[in-house]
Amino acid sequence: MKTVSTAADLRNAVSAWREKGQRIALVPTMGALHAGHLALVDQARRAAGKVVVSLFVNPKQFGPGEDFERYPRDLEADAEKLREAGADLLFAPPVAEMYPPGFATTVHVAGVSEGMEGARRPGHFDGVATVVARLLGLVLPDVAVFGQKDAQQCAVVMRLAADLGLPVEIRVVPTVRESDGLALSSRNAYLTPEERKAAPALFRALLAAQLVHELGERKAAKVLKVFRLAIETEPRLVLDAVDLVDAVTMRPVETIDRPVLLAAAVKLGRTRLIDNLVFGG
Ligand code: PAJ
Repeated sequence: MKTVSTAADLRNAVSAWREKGQRIALVPTMGALHAGHLALVDQARRAAGKVVVSLFVNPKQFGPGEDFERYPRDLEADAEKLREAGADLLFAPPVAEMYPPGFATTVHVAGVSEGMEGARRPGHFDGVATVVARLLGLVLPDVAVFGQKDAQQCAVVMRLAADLGLPVEIRVVPTVRESDGLALSSRNAYLTPEERKAAPALFRALLAAQLVHELGERKAAKVLKVFRLAIETEPRLVLDAVDLVDAVTMRPVETIDRPVLLAAAVKLGRTRLIDNLVFGG
């Protein structure tokens, strides 16, 4: 696996492969890699002959007071994991390479990016859409792979690719979890041992909500109530937000008569964790 840090080196490597007729897959990440990211690399390997992984802690998607500065960074360890996972190229640019002087474009995907996490983290999805659009433009992959863990991000990226007519297939990989149900996240590293013990209550609450739906409940308000009660059983978890939305449009639903996304954010001490489930329809 080669590591490059400039757009020019990235383009050269990728065009050499493309000239040989290789299919190319891109896996965008911010590093601090775990088995969730590696599941995306695995999917990418199955989808294409060459796998490019980008590693860039994107300042544009962090709000003031968020964890940009303290976001975990360990390029050496990440490169080793990617080599073992069979990635072909690691693109790890500095900020000035991703956003060179004069960079003036912001990509805003209206609708799907504006509710839920988009409403609570102003500018977040503009930052995501802008960096993903630039990465897709640099690599021109046949396939780009994202994780269901960030469900709204997937919806934003799919809308972006469709609206701009980008010739890329967006693939979504199911959320990878610890054995106790906690979704893998780079931010889990912030949890104290006590917080880590409490954290799986988020997934259990999502499962409880899904279960009442499976038992026949169709009213969103009732399903949300079960979710909230389940969260309250773990006093360390503070519910930050929960949404029950149409799985495609990300608009709130009152009746569960189609596939829905139940997505929630909780605070555990200083750490904010998100998770979601799709059910119904
Ligand atoms: P990051 O949080 O590093 O995540 C990179 C990719 O890994 C995303 O597509 C995310 O959904 C996926 N992922 C994270 N945890 C996962 C898990 N437990 N199971 C499955 N997939 C998981 O998401 C970002 O970075 C950034 O917003 C990015 C898309 C790179 C743009 O900067």
